[in-house]
Amino acid sequence: MSYLTQSLRYSLLFVLSPIFISINGCSNNLQPTQIVTQAHQLPYPQIDHELGEKLQPNEEILAKQIADHIGQAIRTQYTSGNVLRDAHPKAHGCVRAEFHVSKSLPKNLAKGIFVPDKTYSAWIRFSNASGDATQADDKKDARGMAIKILGVSGKKILENDDQAMTQDFIMINHPVFFVDEPHRYLAFIEDMNSKSTLKKLHVPFALGFQGTINALRASNSKISNPLQARYWSMVPYQLGLGADRQAVKYSARPCSSHLDQIPNKPSPNFLREALQNTLNKNDACMEFLIQPRTSNKMLIEDSMTEWQETQAPFYQVATIHIPQQIFDTPEQNQFCENLSFTPWHSLPEHRPLGAINRLRKVIYENISLIRHEMNSAPRKEPQ
Ligand code: HEM
Repeated sequence: MSYLTQSLRYSLLFVLSPIFISINGCSNNLQPTQIVTQAHQLPYPQIDHELGEKLQPNEEILAKQIADHIGQAIRTQYTSGNVLRDAHPKAHGCVRAEFHVSKSLPKNLAKGIFVPDKTYSAWIRFSNASGDATQADDKKDARGMAIKILGVSGKKILENDDQAMTQDFIMINHPVFFVDEPHRYLAFIEDMNSKSTLKKLHVPFALGFQGTINALRASNSKISNPLQARYWSMVPYQLGLGADRQAVKYSARPCSSHLDQIPNKPSPNFLREALQNTLNKNDACMEFLIQPRTSNKMLIEDSMTEWQETQAPFYQVATIHIPQQIFDTPEQNQFCENLSFTPWHSLPEHRPLGAINRLRKVIYENISLIRHEMNSAPRKEPQ
């Protein structure tokens, strides 16, 4: 690398490093020798070559190393009874919702839970991405929307919860992720969690140019109300089984284009307040969309490139109705804390695809186990 490029990158690092601290989450200092191994012996996902999945070098080992690293970070950062999620620890609230599948759906989309005209109960957890649960909501950050659909019969993929009656859809208010390759994710969190400032400044090198740009864009948003943002799955999922199966991405967007103003002097938790203020008086509505892949050039293993809507349109398959309600109670907030979302709480018809999702099978399960064990909290999928 030329001297010029190197100097440019170094100057970028100084500008960018606070943002990485925000998107990664936990920024505690780890001792490399203290890695704890949690019993996570779930089978690693099989590869669907026909849909374009490709196992990456040492992927399963890297998944466990990432899981161990995050597990260790949690054990270092939190004391028993007070453990929060490693990522997205700050919830704006968990709200009750009804997920109504559209009455008429084309045959190729009417798969799995998408049974025309069927209504499911659901929980939705809205969150900030930052690992700092005390971060004020007016700071730039990525925002999460995790939907847990209830009453879904059929065996689920995640072996520990295969009898669960739930299907999760996990989304962020940005269309693409910032890493594709497991080794980069490991390097990223090792840099982020290191005591050494120099290592922290190395983060953009760990992510590479495109990853750095994606990370900056994803964490660059301010929203006025979690019900008024658009969310994307970022990574692909299977839809259907057998010869009919295809790759799709998901998205959710508000039914109306109304946008609240961010208050002049926002309180640190103004997104929770905005959510409660809306639902005190009114119902809310969001559309749930599916984006079928339209070309094999939209690579399953590439979670960093958007499937352009002009080439691969989204189709509305369901309406999410969020009734007027009071959600901000100690009991409901506690219930919300104890929920576990993972893309692998899923029917085989909605199987997660690609390396990032495969890593998440190991990582989310491990982190949820540690969180619940340290909090002595019940770990059970809701009925
Ligand atoms: C290798 C990549 C990823 C890693 C290591 C990772 C890690 C995590 C972890 C550890 C949690 C907390 C889990 C728990 O304590 O139960 C979490 C939650 C979450 N992640 Fe990821 N994640 C990754 C990719 C993604 C992607 C691609 C999305 C895109 C939608 C995403 C969205 C979320 C959201 C919205 C939550 C909060 C779920 C909730 O409300 O409980 N993550 N992630």
